[in-house]
Amino acid sequence: MKHPQRPGAVDPILADGDEPLSNRSHNRYFGDILETRLSRRSMLRGSLATFIAGAMATRLPFSSAFAGEAAAAPSLGFQAIPTSAADTVVVPDGYRVHAMLPMGTPISGHMPAYSLSASGEDQAHQVGSHHDGMHFFPLQGSARDGLLVMNHEYIEPRFLHAAAAGLALDRSGFPQNEDGSRDDDQVLKELNAHGVSVVRVRADDQGQWQVVEDVHNRRITGLTPMRLAGPVAGTEHLVTQYSPDGTMTRGTLNNCAHGVTPWNTYLAAEENWAGYFANSDVEIDRRQARYGIETRDSGRYQWHRAASGADEYVRFDASVRGASASEDYRNEPHAFGWMVEIDPMDPASTPIKRTHLGRFAHEGVIFAPAVEGQPVVAYSGDDARFEYIYKFVSARPFEAATADGSLLDEGTLYVARFNDDGSGEWLALAPGENGLTPENGFADLADILVNTRSAADQAGATKMDRPEWGAVDPATGQVYFTLTNNTQREESQTDAVNPRAENSFGQIVRWQEEDSHAGTRFAWDLFVLAGDQDDSRDLAGEPLDQESIFANPDGLWIDPDRRVWIQTDISESVMNSGIYEVFGNNQMLAANPETGEIKRFLTGPVGQEITGVITTPDQRTMFVNVQHPGATTDADAFAAGDLVSHWPDGGSAIPRSATLVITREDGGIIGA
Ligand code: FEO
Ligand code: CA
Ligand code: CA
Repeated sequence: MKHPQRPGAVDPILADGDEPLSNRSHNRYFGDILETRLSRRSMLRGSLATFIAGAMATRLPFSSAFAGEAAAAPSLGFQAIPTSAADTVVVPDGYRVHAMLPMGTPISGHMPAYSLSASGEDQAHQVGSHHDGMHFFPLQGSARDGLLVMNHEYIEPRFLHAAAAGLALDRSGFPQNEDGSRDDDQVLKELNAHGVSVVRVRADDQGQWQVVEDVHNRRITGLTPMRLAGPVAGTEHLVTQYSPDGTMTRGTLNNCAHGVTPWNTYLAAEENWAGYFANSDVEIDRRQARYGIETRDSGRYQWHRAASGADEYVRFDASVRGASASEDYRNEPHAFGWMVEIDPMDPASTPIKRTHLGRFAHEGVIFAPAVEGQPVVAYSGDDARFEYIYKFVSARPFEAATADGSLLDEGTLYVARFNDDGSGEWLALAPGENGLTPENGFADLADILVNTRSAADQAGATKMDRPEWGAVDPATGQVYFTLTNNTQREESQTDAVNPRAENSFGQIVRWQEEDSHAGTRFAWDLFVLAGDQDDSRDLAGEPLDQESIFANPDGLWIDPDRRVWIQTDISESVMNSGIYEVFGNNQMLAANPETGEIKRFLTGPVGQEITGVITTPDQRTMFVNVQHPGATTDADAFAAGDLVSHWPDGGSAIPRSATLVITREDGGIIGA
């Protein structure tokens, strides 16, 4: 849809935080061999439902090193709730919910109170915006006292700045000066509202969770100095004016989901970072072009146009301006697209970008359970249409006594190929493997990793319907991934794992590795095809019903009892309208991995997505994030002060992302 130009309006390709680009590479879609395609299509004609039901009834055939005797199924003892379009959070009978840590909550330094007129510097001591992936790190093993660590994916500038009042700004818009420059303090505030929050929270004697002022409390932002490690560190790819030796950069951006390492550190993913960069060069090389940076003088929030021209803002223009790479920021985008390791227990630690986990639009990362003496294995999805699912296998074995992040610096990155017959293979992205040779344009390991997407194209991986979060079943070792949607997939591009053309609703795939998580072969099936009652399938091959319909699975977590928690992100551009109206506001459901039963557990307020979920170790307190409430307020309504959501404060308040605290009235286990 075309809008009239207005302050801060940018190209929609930069503005959409969820799905900014598609894989335009020419490697073949899986199964895209003419004869195979023709025979399979004739098989599918008129019988898609039967085919899908068959694929979904596939039992995972490999015996697994992790599969014990028949694993116990979890209980889903709550009463499913209906869909909702109300500006509130609903949970089942017998549950309590309240919001804490809204954007702007003071946590460190001079503890500046939340206010629209708070400064950019204040924001560096306050909870950021757009809460996303999250983990609870207990202190001394406590279920009532720990560090809540969460990502702040992006921002809505109109809800950050007092100067935005009265302007016709949509959810991507921002105030700017007549000449197109930006106010420095606004840019600082926006950078500081990104990143990660580390905040100590504790339940008092009444069970109420409170923020605790604590030495661990910390904001990591779009400006925090960070080290790069692994094969790309110290190479020419990362040389900038700020870091002539290519080992350092500033900040992390668009942190979507997260991961927790076996040595208890936190990894923040860098997802849609590419949109933040301008680049006026006529020729854009693949290290940027394959990630969506094209010739343009605009970035998502025009930070490179900060009025002062300060170095930390100018760097978001990646144009060649100096005589060499150490005199400009032509390589700055190459310092983004990584997984960032943060040690929440050491507030003085420098975050580290781990380059061997690959460079793409990392949604998040999920580690397989670590086994003493075995490699460390981590899975990560690249969330864009037709992108891939990856896994990293460490070279060195896990040893609990000495394990640390250096395990992520040596190993092998693989990309997944899903075969139509329910088998799959991991293709190594390493020098000399799968066509990754200098003749094919891959000079060495650093070149492969900085160009991860191009390497996966070359290897012939399966183009997926926007891989989002992953989770590992603690009993069986099965790995689940959400595939949120892909409305651009055409009929000729469908395959067994991405079976629907114009896929509006998404699906969840799962697989079992052949031997161990470090192996190179797996068996897969589809856990659920999401959708309405006319276009969905559960594990038993039946359509979803009133208690279970959902669309666009995104957040995913499997709790210690094996409940599969599914969170939805129907885009704010379509939610509560057309084919999506039946789903209401974004929601969270729980599923039984054995039977495939799914029940709706929570519905969120207006305009938001539900993302990020963790419980305390006793499973009696659950934390869930609500991101971008009110985002469906259109520009004219914003100008008139007519917001569609005032959550969580109510009244006439500006809507703010916040964290839900969910408990049971009887003190029981959440979801049981
Ligand atoms: Fe940030 Fe892919 O959701
Ligand atoms: Ca999303
Ligand atoms: Ca997400």
